[in-house]
Amino acid sequence: MTTMRIPFNRAGLVGNEFRYIAQALEAGHISGDGRFTMKCHELLEKELGVGKALLTTSCTHALEMAALLLNIQSGDEVIVPSFAFVSTINAFVLRGARPVFCDIRSDTLNIDEGTLESLITPRTKAIIVVHYAGVGCEMDNILDIAKRRGIAVVEDNAHGLFGKYRGKYLGTFGCLATQSFHETKNFTCGEGGALLLNEPQHFERAEIIREKGTNRNRFFRGQVDKYTWVDLGSSYLPSDVLAAFLFAQFEHREQIQSQRRHIWNYYNENLAGWTGSNGAELPFVPAYCEQSWHMFYVLMPSLQARQRLIAHLRAQEILSVFHYLPLHLSEMGKRWGGKEGQCPVTESVSDRVLRLPFYNELNELDQERVISAVREVNV
Ligand SMILES: Cc1ncc(COP(=O)(O)O)c(C=O)c1O
Repeated sequence: MTTMRIPFNRAGLVGNEFRYIAQALEAGHISGDGRFTMKCHELLEKELGVGKALLTTSCTHALEMAALLLNIQSGDEVIVPSFAFVSTINAFVLRGARPVFCDIRSDTLNIDEGTLESLITPRTKAIIVVHYAGVGCEMDNILDIAKRRGIAVVEDNAHGLFGKYRGKYLGTFGCLATQSFHETKNFTCGEGGALLLNEPQHFERAEIIREKGTNRNRFFRGQVDKYTWVDLGSSYLPSDVLAAFLFAQFEHREQIQSQRRHIWNYYNENLAGWTGSNGAELPFVPAYCEQSWHMFYVLMPSLQARQRLIAHLRAQEILSVFHYLPLHLSEMGKRWGGKEGQCPVTESVSDRVLRLPFYNELNELDQERVISAVREVNV
């Protein structure tokens, strides 16, 4: 891989990462559920106001836990936006679900709640929403539909930690929500995630699923005198070394979010003129959404225009990326009947979206270089 002068992402240290890792080592507890894992749980529960938070080894694994908790079985249908990450649906397909692909809105690029009802059948077990770029989906409508039809809502909030919809934190709307602490996210420990639980009925079973299907947590609390295999499960808990790193990042959450807000606003202000005269679009954030400042993207007028911009930036050693190939048109999606034209907005956006370099330590000089390079391209 060539090294870019301005990479797309760069993981950075913000404070006490090494000190806390040393403390975890000194305490002699570096497996899961050590002191720093508990501190992360406490912080997420308090800050977000969720009933229970459990660190996991990834957002993918938190989604797998969600599928297990909802007892997803062969023949169940799960609705998912086609413009999403593979794990968002793969976790449910692993349990035997049939994926039902929903299109997205052309403004926020979030699931199109207006078409949801037409996709619901008696077999629909869950609706998975992704708060794309940390901008909230239309949760009032989505929850209303799901409640009327008795369907669970899971929020894949990989992008949206500390974002809000109508004043309430993302991740607190569905019965379950998942977070990612992968290197590309606002807060990271390299690879990591969390499951947020908003319904007490899932609390105990989630602990069991996360601990290989055993009641080990009950044993540690002194509620049983030995622990044993009681349910399905796997090893979904991260090392306390990772939790120590993550907690150091959480401690500086205000600083991280404010740096990212500054970067986002700088792109937005300085690219407005260029997008206007080149048929491109800036991200749309509804007034009632507080975004999480996770990414900055532009929507180009065509696939050719996007590819030309990527090549132009690359020639100046600036890495820009695109993402989410439509799930319904993937090899797996086609096995469930995915066809061209089925989710037209997803298909169009997937061809046109371009993400610009975005990381906590992106300095103004480098950002200025990115902006100047973008402005050199006339579509
Ligand atoms: C929407 C979404 N969900 C899930 C994931 C998977 O996250 P992880 O790498 O933590 O498993 C990603 C990855 O970027 C994502 O964008």
